[in-house]
Amino acid sequence: MTAITRNFLTQTDLNREEFIDLIDHAIRLKDQTQAGVCPQPLAGKAVGLIFHKPSLRTRISFEVGVQQLGGNALFVTDKEIQLGVRETIADAARVLSRYLSMIVIRTFHQQDIEELAKYADIPVINALTDLVHPCQVFCDLLTIKEKLGRIEDIKVAYFGDGNNMARSWINAAHLLDIDLWIATTPDTHPGEEFVAKAMDNAVGKVTITEDPSAAAKDADVLYTDVWASMGEKDKAVENAIKLEKMSLNEERLAEAKPSCIVMHCLPAERGREISEAVIDGPNSVVFDQAENRLHGQKSIMLRCLGYN
Ligand code: CP
Ligand code: NVA
Repeated sequence: MTAITRNFLTQTDLNREEFIDLIDHAIRLKDQTQAGVCPQPLAGKAVGLIFHKPSLRTRISFEVGVQQLGGNALFVTDKEIQLGVRETIADAARVLSRYLSMIVIRTFHQQDIEELAKYADIPVINALTDLVHPCQVFCDLLTIKEKLGRIEDIKVAYFGDGNNMARSWINAAHLLDIDLWIATTPDTHPGEEFVAKAMDNAVGKVTITEDPSAAAKDADVLYTDVWASMGEKDKAVENAIKLEKMSLNEERLAEAKPSCIVMHCLPAERGREISEAVIDGPNSVVFDQAENRLHGQKSIMLRCLGYN
């Protein structure tokens, strides 16, 4: 691997070469793990997992990943820490740096994790904010590499809410030669300013459309996510009406390449943003995706700590 990037707050903390390099690292690490070779460079180190929102995959895959690398994972919720409430984020960062070797944090505001990273002397990894979910898309690209043999020169069609997942795909198209289509409505757009900034000097391309068929046409990857994210469940009914025609269903599947893969970060609301037949069908790779959170995030952690 090349030089260390200490934090992983968004995918664009890495450049294109570093990103590709890290995907290859994750593939090697997964092969090693499956062959029973488990280096333990985190022995004697504690990693804090601070979660202000619910989680199945992220929490457990990070916790198991830390264990497999020989470290000790400490899971804490905001009930204990009350980041920015009991004391400033800066003071909490300084204190946590005296105990831990790394912080993995899931919270609401991206600025809070940026503040934490600014004052911490240890790496900070973004385990999801309202803005982006960079670990998810990094690990999804690992799955895409395994299934399609490449992570560039692909058409990715994302259907639904212009949320943290959509924005993480936009960041992926900033770094990589991806032809990204986002089928959404003007009300659920991922944000003009975000898109404009990400597309400045981008390697890939982003098309935002209200036409889900145009997005699906000849796509290599069909992707969706819930229509109301954590912390925004009050929008569930409203978004279900707005996004009804953005559902990832058999019609969309028929428009994509026959070899396409269907992805969802999970948890899914089956029958809403994705049909049962599609999520359980032969093109779906959603559980391989979930598994790869473990392998991909081990590489992210190692890189942040400066290990190869
Ligand atoms: N995909 C994902 O991040 O799942 P969790 O919310 O369960 O962690
Ligand atoms: N957009 C979803 C992703 C969950 C992994 C949310 O933020 O709830």
